[in-house]
Amino acid sequence: MAKPYLSLESVGKSFSRGAASTEVLKEIDLKVERGEFISIIGHSGCGKSTLLNIVAGLTDATTGVVLLEDKEVNDPGPDRAVVFQNHSLLPWLTVYENVSLAVDKVSRKTRSKAERHAWTMHNLDLVQMAHAKDKRPSEISGGMKQRVGIARALAMEPKVLLLDEPFGALDALTRAHLQDSVMQIHATLGNTVMMITHDVDEAVLLSDRIVMMTNGPSARIGEILDVPLARPRKRLELVSDAAYIRCRQAVLKFLYERHRFVEAA
Ligand SMILES: Nc1ncnc2c1ncn2[C@@H]1O[C@H](COP(=O)(O)OP(=O)(O)O)[C@@H](O)[C@H]1O
Ligand SMILES: [Mg+2]
Repeated sequence: MAKPYLSLESVGKSFSRGAASTEVLKEIDLKVERGEFISIIGHSGCGKSTLLNIVAGLTDATTGVVLLEDKEVNDPGPDRAVVFQNHSLLPWLTVYENVSLAVDKVSRKTRSKAERHAWTMHNLDLVQMAHAKDKRPSEISGGMKQRVGIARALAMEPKVLLLDEPFGALDALTRAHLQDSVMQIHATLGNTVMMITHDVDEAVLLSDRIVMMTNGPSARIGEILDVPLARPRKRLELVSDAAYIRCRQAVLKFLYERHRFVEAA
């Protein structure tokens, strides 16, 4: 069997405060193929962001390892670009400068100035933001900011794109537009994507597989669902598609029957 592109092996995480320690994640095993679009879904607080941050190299795992192309992940790096729910653009820079900063960082040695400019513009084009290149973050909408964040991440040509509820703060229509853009980019570039969401429809629409997490503490992978829907996917047609409905029900059942959210006191 071919080696997996990205591999999480017995990943666990405990946070300690003083003498007390809480185990957030326990023995997470996951293999992701190159080009695969994986969603991680689970109730609030189960440890999804913690897991993504471990893959990003922003948080150390307490146990286990993450391997990307057989190399152990220990630090953040441009091969794993992250897009967070709340954009992290620098407010004093323009849209163009926010992306070109990342481009300069990863390719100052490998691309000429003209090539870096072209690459910055290419990535702004990909997310349909070239028209706003001279605006500052305060002058554009939330959806546009997320687009720029995605352009910045893509411009680094990461091996894995990590998305932590990237559309979570957006209204439903903007969210739908961005989902369509991400699907189109994935179809064009074939990126390997790990996306966190708590939106069932979003997970089914975008993913090749949906990783469903049990509630914490000591959250684990409860089930992994294959989403056998042909691409390109069209949201309007899927609404009445039997396979789509089946997937949606499987995730809902997992989240609302088998692993119901119990609000912590
Ligand atoms: N730096 C930290 N220190 C202590 N506890 C943390 C820290 N980060 C996250 N946690 C705890 O870990 C659990 C999972 O958090 P998180 O990964 O953000 O969940 P999710 O993204 O699924 O909502 C929560 O109970 C949270 O309070
Ligand atoms: Mg989170």
